[in-house]
Amino acid sequence: MDLVKRLEEYRDRERELQWEGTFAQYFEIATKKPEVIRLAHERIYHMIMDAGVGTSRTGEPLFNFYSDEIFGIERPLQQIVEYFHSAAQRLEVRKRILLLMGPVGGGKSTIVYLIKRGLEAYSRIDTGALYSIRDCPMHEEPLHLIPNDLRADVEKEFGLYIEGDLCPHCRYMVDTQFVGHIEDVPVKRLAFSEKYRVGVGTFTPSDPKSQDISELVGGIDLSTIGEVGVESDPRAYRFDGELNIANRGIMEFVEMLKTDEKFLYVLLTLSQEQNIKVVVSHTNEHEYLSFVGNKKSEALQDRIILVKVPYNLRASDEVKIYEKLLKQSALQNVHIAPYTLRIASIFAILTRLEPSKKAGMSLMKKLKLYDGEDIEDFQQKDIKELQEEAVREGMDGISPRYVINRLSNALVKQNTTCINPIDALRALRDGLDQHTSITREERERYLNFIQEARKEYDDMARKEVQRAFVYSYEESARTLLNNYLDNVEAYCNKTRLRDPITDEEMEPDEQLMRSIEEQIGITENAKKSFREEILIRISSLARRGQTFEYTSHERLKEAIEKKLFADLRDVVKITTSTRTPDKEQLRKINEVVNRLMTEHGYCHVCANEILRYTGSLLNR
Ligand SMILES: Nc1ncnc2c1ncn2[C@@H]1O[C@H](COP(=O)(O)OP(=O)(O)OP(=O)(O)O)[C@@H](O)[C@H]1O
Ligand SMILES: [Mg+2]
Ligand SMILES: [Zn+2]
Ligand SMILES: [Zn+2]
Repeated sequence: MDLVKRLEEYRDRERELQWEGTFAQYFEIATKKPEVIRLAHERIYHMIMDAGVGTSRTGEPLFNFYSDEIFGIERPLQQIVEYFHSAAQRLEVRKRILLLMGPVGGGKSTIVYLIKRGLEAYSRIDTGALYSIRDCPMHEEPLHLIPNDLRADVEKEFGLYIEGDLCPHCRYMVDTQFVGHIEDVPVKRLAFSEKYRVGVGTFTPSDPKSQDISELVGGIDLSTIGEVGVESDPRAYRFDGELNIANRGIMEFVEMLKTDEKFLYVLLTLSQEQNIKVVVSHTNEHEYLSFVGNKKSEALQDRIILVKVPYNLRASDEVKIYEKLLKQSALQNVHIAPYTLRIASIFAILTRLEPSKKAGMSLMKKLKLYDGEDIEDFQQKDIKELQEEAVREGMDGISPRYVINRLSNALVKQNTTCINPIDALRALRDGLDQHTSITREERERYLNFIQEARKEYDDMARKEVQRAFVYSYEESARTLLNNYLDNVEAYCNKTRLRDPITDEEMEPDEQLMRSIEEQIGITENAKKSFREEILIRISSLARRGQTFEYTSHERLKEAIEKKLFADLRDVVKITTSTRTPDKEQLRKINEVVNRLMTEHGYCHVCANEILRYTGSLLNR
């Protein structure tokens, strides 16, 4: 990095941000660069779109604006962007409050936080630039200075749409100080900043008895009444409520429905006014339902655009959430063994899924299907139906925050340097006792999910270790597969095989074929149709110019893996579980530990641990 050059750029930018001029000069800028007059919703919409949009595997839009921070919940993000899109076109929706509803720790606040921080940054760059009347407490749009009578002509000639009237403060200033010479009114470039209370605000409900409505909309400044005489004088009014300062930007209304009704009614009145603000709030489902059930709130309900923000339901995205949270936590220097986050995410997502009525669809299958795997009997196209039958899915269960807290907890306690999937499951399980908001039945259900996640891990661990024992796993799998296919072909076509070395003709090796098929429970009676099915698959792939790989047929793949493992089993079993390994076994163990460390992301601790663990599994 060239520091001097960067500092120069920085100073240039700061200088631009300091720009001040007259209204006449601003009008010039606005005619050349009409983006500067965008209204708040439109500005936010462009901010999001400017960051770029990709497409997901399933064809949904992926917003780069969110993609580094929010994972696995495309639908709500899409609805939020749609809201800003319609509002940008000045449709009626822009008068409504955007309300995000979802379970605890599901990312609602983070979604709002990103818009707020995004707007601050956007207002500082060229494409997001905006200006305000210099001394306006609500930093209003300078075009408000243009008298109503002239607005239609300005719009016709310059294409500049003007909405909203001067605030009382500026009206007073124009009348008294500038006596109508609006062209001379000072204008400045505006940089949003929550810290400096410019354009970005947060209103947090507190005790309704002590919280005053002026915190939201400003109020009478008693200290100046003495000077100006009457309350109706605009100089006696302070425009420093959160809604005032958030003018032209965004106000976050924290947990809106927890607040006293009087605040909601002020909001309701304001939202009907011409001055359009962006107000985003969040709530949980329970509060929302009681709000909707309350007849008194009907008027307000009409003023709300609801977006459901459920938990993420995709295991691989859940892992990304954990990785993000871990980076911000005290766990940075701890080694996280392979599969740890994956296993924790499987547990968390199982707690969020709703059982399906489809025959044969277990929660684990659903989890894998959602995560993009094609599993036995079901395919990606079934997802839509599954989602339709589970309308509340993702509104309950364990939050990412809980998972990370449990992992941290486990680490602090034991002063560990490495954490593995079994540690993680133990920490998650122990935490359930302290988790006050879950019922006994839920706890039982969750304990079962811990068991299921554990079974998944047992499978993964076994494969991992056995894979590390075979020098080249893929290669062995392919060799075994080809061997099997040659035999199947000969069997089905009633031909004989030729020994590649001696060139002798031989019968198909029934024993070999059966030893593979038995791994997945194919009976003597079913073997013929299974073999034929494989041949059909080969030829249909061949017609499309594709070759049959050992991964092309889900069940055959499973059979091949199991067979390889079965062959290896004894070697692994003996090597991993003996207390007094001989020289040859020691050499083998070291080799495997090394391979786990150099090729599979293990540290010394978890590499040895997984060997011990699988050893005990194989000896069961
Ligand atoms: N889908 C997700 N993608 C990325 N991060 C997530 C996701 N869901 C939750 N998180 C992370 O979990 C943490 C908690 O989320 P956040 O505080 O935004 O939730 P919330 O819905 O506002 O919760 P609460 O109801 O408790 O206020 C945050 O650090 C957030 O980044
Ligand atoms: Mg929150
Ligand atoms: Zn003003
Ligand atoms: Zn480790």
